Amino acid sequence: MADDPFLNKDNLITKSAKKSSLVFRMVVLMIVMVCGVYICSICLKQLNFQTKSRFLSIVIDKPCEPPNIEEWEVPYVHFPGPQTYSRAECRCNPVRFFAILSMQRSGSGWFETLLNSHINISSNGEIFSVKARKSNASTILDTLDKIYNLDWYSSAAKNECTAAVGLKWMLNQGLLKYHEEILEYFKRRGVSIIFLFRRNLLRRMISVLANQYDHAAKLLNGTHKSHVHSHHEAEILAGYKPFINTTLLIPNMREVEDMSTQALEYFKRTRHIVIYYEDVVKNRTKLEEIQDFLRVPRRNLESRQVKIHKGPLFKQVENWKDIEKTLKGTKYESFLYGNYRK
Ligand SMILES: *[C@@H]1O[C@H](CO)[C@@H](O)[C@H](O)[C@H]1NC(C)=O
Ligand SMILES: *[C@@H]1O[C@H](CO)[C@@H](O)[C@H](O)[C@H]1NC(C)=O
Ligand SMILES: *[C@@H]1O[C@H](CO)[C@@H](O)[C@H](O)[C@H]1NC(C)=O
Ligand SMILES: *[C@@H]1O[C@H](CO)[C@@H](O)[C@H](O)[C@H]1NC(C)=O
Ligand SMILES: *[C@@H]1O[C@H](CO)[C@@H](O)[C@H](O)[C@H]1NC(C)=O
Repeated sequence: MADDPFLNKDNLITKSAKKSSLVFRMVVLMIVMVCGVYICSICLKQLNFQTKSRFLSIVIDKPCEPPNIEEWEVPYVHFPGPQTYSRAECRCNPVRFFAILSMQRSGSGWFETLLNSHINISSNGEIFSVKARKSNASTILDTLDKIYNLDWYSSAAKNECTAAVGLKWMLNQGLLKYHEEILEYFKRRGVSIIFLFRRNLLRRMISVLANQYDHAAKLLNGTHKSHVHSHHEAEILAGYKPFINTTLLIPNMREVEDMSTQALEYFKRTRHIVIYYEDVVKNRTKLEEIQDFLRVPRRNLESRQVKIHKGPLFKQVENWKDIEKTLKGTKYESFLYGNYRK
């Protein structure tokens, strides 16, 4: 009977000791497992969060270091975080904001194609030619926010390495009307202004009239073009010679002058540069000055656009003699013969 295992005391004791140590081990194992799962889940959550924030470009990442610049420049340097895409490796490339303020037929279309040939410049075109965007100050400022946040989609939009972003804005597109709100915005957001004007207002007027005429006549195979890319097309458009109403000639030019003076007055307290179309045509080194102003690396800028009206003015209008008579002896006389090489 002594061999009966159930009656063997020793055997009983060792068995229960073994059992309790097994239970203990199980408990420890459970704790380790629970801890492991918990730590893993936290790790996963953090990883998930990081990837998400990278994709949504929420700026929880390290803030961007401002570049090595002078104190006065700090308000003009930005690190936009677009909502619609990530700036990827250029997240911390500084971006400057600009606006080209100009008037119709002053070479701003050509000027903008030159700027957009720069790999780091995005000038988004005449955004406020669309009525709804300029209907009141708040639609204007909302639109600007979108452009300067690099969320505006246009053919000019570059990759994530844009270093200067802006638009072309005509004085009569809500700019003078809402000048107070716009000035406040330009100053608050550190927007630099490029005024682009044309010196020869008579040439400008001929261009306006010819463009208006073509709007209806559509000389190029039934399509209206404001800008052309071939000499052939330019010749066809320049074939039309407008008739200028001499009664309205001087008042019209004065009105144009007043608008540009007004704009300069309203926005003179912004960081700005004044450029004349004729100077850029004559001297391409002007473009270097503009690139320096925008703080982008200097590059050779190019445009495929071809000038429409070339050569002496008397060949470009219907009633040259009347125009000559009207302007002789006035301060606008120089416009008659002012010419530039091309
Ligand atoms: C501005 O115009 C938009 C659209 O035209 C309109 O929805 C909005 O209420 C206007 N805001 C103000 C302040 O007038
Ligand atoms: C300009 O763009 C190039 C190419 O995308 C990029 O490598 C470079 O860093 C950009 N330069 C500046 C000043 O942002
Ligand atoms: C008009 O179309 C014809 C035929 O497609 C073409 O040969 C001609 O160059 C076009 N003219 C202009 C001004 O585009
Ligand atoms: C020129 O404009 C004035 C004022 O609008 C007008 O009275 C006049 O008839 C115009 N002259 C011509 C030749 O069209
Ligand atoms: C061209 O412009 C630059 C800078 O704007 C100026 O320094 C230079 O003298 C000009 N050259 C000529 C030939 O006008």
